Amino acid sequence: MIEQLQKYKEELEKVAVMSAEEVEQLRIKFLGQKGILKDLFGAFKSVPNEQKKEFGRQLNELKNLAQEKISDLKSAVSDQEEEDGSINDLTLPGNYKELGARHPISLVRQEIIDIFAGIGFSISEGPEVEDDWHNFTALNFPEEHPARDMQDTFFVENKNGEEDLVLRTHTSSVQVRIMEAGNPPIRTISPGKVFRNEAISARSHCIFHQVEGLYIDKGVSFADLMQTLQYFASELFGPKAKIRMRPSYFPFTEPSAEVDVWWGLENESDYRITKGTGWLEIMGCGMVDPNVLINCGIDPNEYSGYAFGMGIERIAMNRYGIDDIRMFFENDIRFLRQFKSAF
Ligand code: DAH
Repeated sequence: MIEQLQKYKEELEKVAVMSAEEVEQLRIKFLGQKGILKDLFGAFKSVPNEQKKEFGRQLNELKNLAQEKISDLKSAVSDQEEEDGSINDLTLPGNYKELGARHPISLVRQEIIDIFAGIGFSISEGPEVEDDWHNFTALNFPEEHPARDMQDTFFVENKNGEEDLVLRTHTSSVQVRIMEAGNPPIRTISPGKVFRNEAISARSHCIFHQVEGLYIDKGVSFADLMQTLQYFASELFGPKAKIRMRPSYFPFTEPSAEVDVWWGLENESDYRITKGTGWLEIMGCGMVDPNVLINCGIDPNEYSGYAFGMGIERIAMNRYGIDDIRMFFENDIRFLRQFKSAF
């Protein structure tokens, strides 16, 4: 048996330049499914015990030799082809490579980032699994307060016997982390995934994306907030975009508002999209509540600020005329192909 191994080795060592086809034949002979090496490994069982060690060693050597030799021969073949010009013929038709497309959520997220980056906002991120403090308590949601029910929370059992964690229900949790970590002025947006325990339907999903905005400095006013959002809307929806603010409630802002953008009311789909009002709700916002500033170690007598939070799916649905939010998560290639190429 061992002599046979030697012979194969010699055979391999003797091999010189070959054509692509011959290399392939050699590969099949030694490394193929029914090749010599497969056979020899199979025969290992029947080698007498005292020879097993030596046989195993030589068998491995043979395997390495075969792999090395074949890969050397292959690269020699392709070098040769290059020299001959057979693969450098520029008159040959190119190989068509299908390009991927960016996901519509990524496209809209990037658009939003670009608009705010252009006016001096940095980009920040926080964890998707949060503690109660960052998702609720620091944001002025009192313990047991019904406001916590505004957001159906997924709880994550904490095995260490510590308090349970949550899948963050909004990106407002990142505000808290940013304020705790640094001193004003702060001007940042935080895009990310959020999770709510909601029934999945055409209009709502248990996973979606938000972009949070935060601006803290001396003398920041509601007028600054309005100007910034007006600018944002005109960049995103065009120079004629009109916005309006409706008073609202969030525990972490005071005063709070919801922002609608004028969509129009000309045809049936405008009616459907805007529920007959012509206005489309795109985000919540407000002046950061002094309690939140205190919770995050910022003196509300010295600093003030605004915050806002918007849903990316909502904007993407309207931008592309998508009427079922589930499309974003199904990864149906026929849907995804319709968006702008990634290159
Ligand atoms: N966190 C809110 C939500 O998920 C959105 C929001 C509203 C964020 C007002 C804010 C804000 O920063 O000021 O519904």
